[in-house]
Amino acid sequence: MGKKDTIVKALKNKDETIRLTKWMLQIVKPYYRFIIYTFLISVVSLIISYVSTIVGKYVVDDATNGVINLRNMLWMCGTTFVAIVISVFSSVISSYISEKFSFTLKKQFFNDIQRSVWLDISKIHSGDLVTRLTSDIGSISDGLIEMIPKTILIGTQLLIAFCILFYYDKKIALFALVIAPIGGMCLLIFRESYKKYQAALRKSESEYRSFMQETLSNLTIIKAFGQEDYNDETMERFKRERLQLVFKNSRLSSVMSAVMRIVYSVGYVVAFCWGSYRISTGDITYGTLTIFITLVSQVQGSVSALGGIVPQFYSMLVSAKRIHTVIDFPKEVYSGKTDVPAAVGVEVKDLDFAYDKDYILKGMNATIAPGEKVAVVGPSGAGKTTLVRLLLALTTPTAGSLNYILDGAEQEAATPDCRRFVSYVPQGNTLISGTVEDNLKFGLRDATEEQMWRALELAAADKFIEKHPDKLKTELSEKSGGISEGQAQRISIARALIADKPVLILDEATSALDEATEAVIVKSITEQLDNKTCFIITHRRSMLQYCDKVIEIDEDAHVTMK
Ligand SMILES: Nc1ncnc2c1ncn2[C@@H]1O[C@H](COP(=O)(O)OP(=O)(O)OP(=O)(O)O)[C@@H](O)[C@H]1O
Ligand SMILES: [Mg+2]
Repeated sequence: MGKKDTIVKALKNKDETIRLTKWMLQIVKPYYRFIIYTFLISVVSLIISYVSTIVGKYVVDDATNGVINLRNMLWMCGTTFVAIVISVFSSVISSYISEKFSFTLKKQFFNDIQRSVWLDISKIHSGDLVTRLTSDIGSISDGLIEMIPKTILIGTQLLIAFCILFYYDKKIALFALVIAPIGGMCLLIFRESYKKYQAALRKSESEYRSFMQETLSNLTIIKAFGQEDYNDETMERFKRERLQLVFKNSRLSSVMSAVMRIVYSVGYVVAFCWGSYRISTGDITYGTLTIFITLVSQVQGSVSALGGIVPQFYSMLVSAKRIHTVIDFPKEVYSGKTDVPAAVGVEVKDLDFAYDKDYILKGMNATIAPGEKVAVVGPSGAGKTTLVRLLLALTTPTAGSLNYILDGAEQEAATPDCRRFVSYVPQGNTLISGTVEDNLKFGLRDATEEQMWRALELAAADKFIEKHPDKLKTELSEKSGGISEGQAQRISIARALIADKPVLILDEATSALDEATEAVIVKSITEQLDNKTCFIITHRRSMLQYCDKVIEIDEDAHVTMK
């Protein structure tokens, strides 16, 4: 509810609507040539259809005088055929260009998601982000590519129709000019409701997609907790809510189009009666009346198309707002540094950190020399992973500083640049689907087989992979399906080790392992990688014997270092 309100409220702001419209015009700029081309093609088709209409007048007038004009009839057939050929050609090009445009936008938006500051972007559900990447981008790209030439075309069509009418009968033309804006005003009256329904429809789509995505990736807990029926009910609720919204939305569209049709029908009846009257007085011919009727039906087509453009524009505006929320998130800034120092220490001074108002870390001070092994301990929820996020510059200190000391001299504040010398084993299962090799190459893109086996050996993962017939090519399905949790943790450690960076962070990286295996890994890491600075986050006190220092975070956000 809150999200819908925010979007509708934002769109009520005129400046916001102008800003979003400008943005849309700017992103479609590289496609202006194509839009002009589409427009010209449509104008040619339009002219052909008008030629056909006018030739039709002479066919009817000749027939009234008892003459069959074969040449004009052939003209009518010819023009109709050319119009069909043009429309086929144009629709093929259109689908190609719209896909190109939509994918370019997706690529840019995908990049915006990746580059956004973690704390902001992590607040949006991944299902919602996927909806923005697909439905919202689709609505904007289809809309822009179709709508701009369509709108200009409708305008041109109405203008040509008006000129032809004006040429043959000025009074009818002026009458059309008076009645036409009434339809346009109806569209504007309903604009708030359109925005509201479009925002609600997008929100509901995000919700059910997020729900489906989460359910499908957690089928084991769904089964274990017997949640299938409950999930069926949830889907039923989504269906009911969505149907209700779609019903309300299409009811609004139907009312709108009915109003437009009434306005148009009045025009039609008047034109028809007036035309008949003029025939009776001998002012116009049957052929001229045919022109009226044909023009009126063409204008009807334009008027209903106009009825569709306004809601489409509001749907685009809602999507543009949803996309812009992410584009407006602050982006991570890299300075482009690539040098990897050999020895890295860390200095933390009077550091405070709070996600919202409650402090997670308060008054933290620590000096860690290059090569030192630091255990980070504290109860669950104390702030250990939060400290890791600060070390990785995924978030920034609320107060105080966290600096890296490079090669014993240069100080560098923790910014995204620091990731060039930090490698990390996250808490929880974070392997990607693909082979073991794919996962290791995440750590080092051009890793050799030898390097991979060496990293796997250090992480005590070599034996079980060797036993597997496909070895490094062993496929892991989603969420490391096919291997055990502890095995996944060991591949994850190997992925960090192969990156071979001077700082290594292990966030409960061995929590799923038996104590003996854990000891082997921690011992080999601390002993063999003596020049690396390591942060070992652990709940097991037995690990402290391998570390030089201990950082303890308590539940009151106090941090002590021993
Ligand atoms: N993205 C976030 N936004 C707001 N609060 C958060 C966020 N992530 C964590 N927290 C809060 O910060 C506190 C510290 O969380 P953190 O994940 O750092 O704990 P932890 O010490 O790593 O716990 P565990 O041992 O269970 O992994 C918790 O109270 C948690 O609720
Ligand atoms: Mg944690």
